[in-house]
Amino acid sequence: MAEMVVASNRGPVQFEVDDDGNLTSGRGAGGMVAALGPALAGQAGTWVAAAISEGDRVAARRVARSGRLRTVELEQGTVRLRSLVIDPREYQSYYNRVSNRTIWFLQHYLFDVPRHPRFDRGFQLAWRHYESVNRAFAAACDDEAHRGGDVFVQDYHLALAPAMLRERRPDLGIAHFTHCPWADPDYFAMLPSRVAAAVLEGMLGADLLGFLVPRWARNFLRCCREAGFRMDPQGGTVQAADGRTVTVRAYPLGVDGDDLRARVAKVDAQVQQRAVTELARGRFLIVRVDRMELSKNILRGLEGYGMFLERNPRVRGRVVHYALAYASRRDLPEYQAYTAEVKHAAEAINERFRTRTWEPVVLELKDNYPRALAAMAMADVLLVNPVWDGMNLVAKEGPAVSRRDAVLILSRNAGAADDLGDGALVVNPFDTAELAEAFATAMAMPADERAKRASLLREGASALPPQDWFAAQRDDLAALRA
Ligand code: F6P
Repeated sequence: MAEMVVASNRGPVQFEVDDDGNLTSGRGAGGMVAALGPALAGQAGTWVAAAISEGDRVAARRVARSGRLRTVELEQGTVRLRSLVIDPREYQSYYNRVSNRTIWFLQHYLFDVPRHPRFDRGFQLAWRHYESVNRAFAAACDDEAHRGGDVFVQDYHLALAPAMLRERRPDLGIAHFTHCPWADPDYFAMLPSRVAAAVLEGMLGADLLGFLVPRWARNFLRCCREAGFRMDPQGGTVQAADGRTVTVRAYPLGVDGDDLRARVAKVDAQVQQRAVTELARGRFLIVRVDRMELSKNILRGLEGYGMFLERNPRVRGRVVHYALAYASRRDLPEYQAYTAEVKHAAEAINERFRTRTWEPVVLELKDNYPRALAAMAMADVLLVNPVWDGMNLVAKEGPAVSRRDAVLILSRNAGAADDLGDGALVVNPFDTAELAEAFATAMAMPADERAKRASLLREGASALPPQDWFAAQRDDLAALRA
């Protein structure tokens, strides 16, 4: 049992089984793991996560037979892991249909509204599976948490778990953190009212609700008010149905610059830097690093780049757009179609502008962390243009590792714009003409202005590194309980 338990859908590592039945492991993908890994490593605590891959399930069963928890090695230290093996059909409904296709789309305004969403019988069944997976997480946290301990539940996959856990274990301190944006009340109200109420009531089972920036916290509070909860917008509190006061607060997650720079200095990232240098061949390098994700706005990024080449014939042959967009959520038809469109858009630019010696876009779909770090280090421009994004850690990692005072082109709808707005070129993510101009501005920017902006960006990026971000939540939870 542990005094501190963290629960999230995706765990810190993902296991794969090779042909000989041996297990290998790699870093779990995404911003939430990138933040919690360093925050938790080396601390006495247990991380409860779903067994997602076949390798995860094999690893979980092997450990279950031994009756112990698995200790996993992260770059910053070790973590104790409890993997939940969930029935694959239930997991598929909970993860794909409800978490990703419904709640994720909702919080990022991604619905193709004339057609979707449709809350049919299939959704109702999927919602029951979402409830039962949340119940399984609550039971596992109940098992793992010490009497009077603290549990930190992560993200929209586990919106119901806080209330379920409180019912089982009123002795615990419970916090929930949302790693994505929160939509405004009108959009949120697209959910069937029973489901919207369950999400809010589930989260209000916690003592403390964390969001990445104040705008998402405010939207959450407004949704609570619309749903009839008493709330105090100034104090950032909501009164839950059982009369408890729940605190709602923003914790603007940053990066640990020293840690990242040490990572970039390692041999694998250095080798990749040489590869990126070879790819750029002295040309102006525009980089993006994302999951292949609808909310990341990769298509409009390519469109803006194409427009930039079209309007500025003199830059042709002198610039390369290196777009890293590694595969994500491949089971969803929307993501399959989006991947095909992105490939097509990149190819269309290349067909139109390429020469015998110049390929204007290089699209990379393989997940390769050292390569991504190297690309960020060598970039002249880092493009981060999501339609909406909770924070976007790439926008902060890039400035921390940049060796070239990269210009950051940043969507105003990324939470990161709150911390980086002074140093970045801030754009409207829907305005591709503005993006084309931003590329031109960045390319013409004098070195001293780049340096000045880069210094502001580095400062903004590391304002609240993962350890401090997590410690602030722990301290607040302790203070609220006291
Ligand atoms: O809310 C953000 C998040 O949970 C982050 O971990 C990451 O950016 C992404 O979503 C990961 O998504 P998935 O686990 O579905 O690949």
